[in-house]
Amino acid sequence: MNKIKLIYEGKAKKVYETDDPSLAIFEYKDSLTAFNAQKKDTMQGKGRLTNLISATFLKLLQDKGIPTHFVKLLDDNHQLVKRLKIIPLEVVVRNTSTGSLCKRLGVEEGLDLVPPLVEFYLKNDELGDPLVTEDHIRAFGFASKPHVEKMKELCLKVNEILSKYLFERGIKLVDFKLEFGMDDEGNIFVADEISPDTCRFWDLTSKERLDKDRFRKDLGNVLEAYEEIWRRIADWDKSCSAEYRANILVYLKEGVLDTQGKAVLSSLHSLGYDEVKNVRVGKYIKITLTSPSQEDAASRVKEMCEDLLVNDLIEEYSFELEEI
Ligand SMILES: Nc1ncnc2c1ncn2[C@@H]1O[C@H](COP(=O)(O)OP(=O)(O)OP(=O)(O)O)[C@@H](O)[C@H]1O
Ligand SMILES: [Mg+2]
Repeated sequence: MNKIKLIYEGKAKKVYETDDPSLAIFEYKDSLTAFNAQKKDTMQGKGRLTNLISATFLKLLQDKGIPTHFVKLLDDNHQLVKRLKIIPLEVVVRNTSTGSLCKRLGVEEGLDLVPPLVEFYLKNDELGDPLVTEDHIRAFGFASKPHVEKMKELCLKVNEILSKYLFERGIKLVDFKLEFGMDDEGNIFVADEISPDTCRFWDLTSKERLDKDRFRKDLGNVLEAYEEIWRRIADWDKSCSAEYRANILVYLKEGVLDTQGKAVLSSLHSLGYDEVKNVRVGKYIKITLTSPSQEDAASRVKEMCEDLLVNDLIEEYSFELEEI
């Protein structure tokens, strides 16, 4: 699947057309923005983390029967998704009071919200994504009533699945934002991304913030927090991983005396294979491994070669990776 044309460049992602008009490629960028892009920064490696984390959550939801736009992870920064018509609403689910809710209503931070709150915001950066009621949505046709009902139902299911999944990994799902899109038949799917950019994650015991609030509030260690979320879900969930086979060839460097090669050469000659001029003997190592992406697998195999499999004083290596 190839990127054909850039359709849209947003604050966090680039969206590309592909050979298949029903699919799009998402490229997750290293940029971070907050407060409607008034605060901006770039952090190398952030796009990889949001891509991998988002793919893991979307795949998990899909496996639990939630329709999502996710098709597959392509590599560290890209994923393939269904190309949809996005409903111009951001739907926020809140399990604990914090952020703009506390500011807007003057309520205390950290209150448990049972049942969770579901809020709709109009996707409109110029207006600062204002909160809208269901009456506004109906009156101005932002979405149909059945779609609003469906979005609410899906949001609550997503909340249940993700809250449980994260709780088991020592993380509290405080709140999150979802976007939805429709295919040509009017079917609704969870779209966009689910990552520390769009959710609030608190460590269950320390209450440490492990999400974009670290950037919003200048708490530092932003990338480390995203890395921690990835570590906790990647350690447990290999569902997003593919299996790869690495075919590794290890051979002596040119100029290094190859005694095994010499012995084989002389045996071949004694059997009458006089045309053989030179023999070098190497090793062939076959390794199967799981990895979230081909790039990750390649960098792990390289590390294995350098740490153990190859003596770099006298040997060289090359390898090929194939997805199984
Ligand atoms: N499956 C999909 N098909 C088409 N567009 C999608 C899909 N999922 C998400 N999008 C849209 O792709 C864009 C992703 O880019 P990004 O998240 O960087 O945008 P953004 O800067 O947050 O701007 P926006 O206000 O439009 O969300 C968003 O506009 C999002 O609504
Ligand atoms: Mg966005």
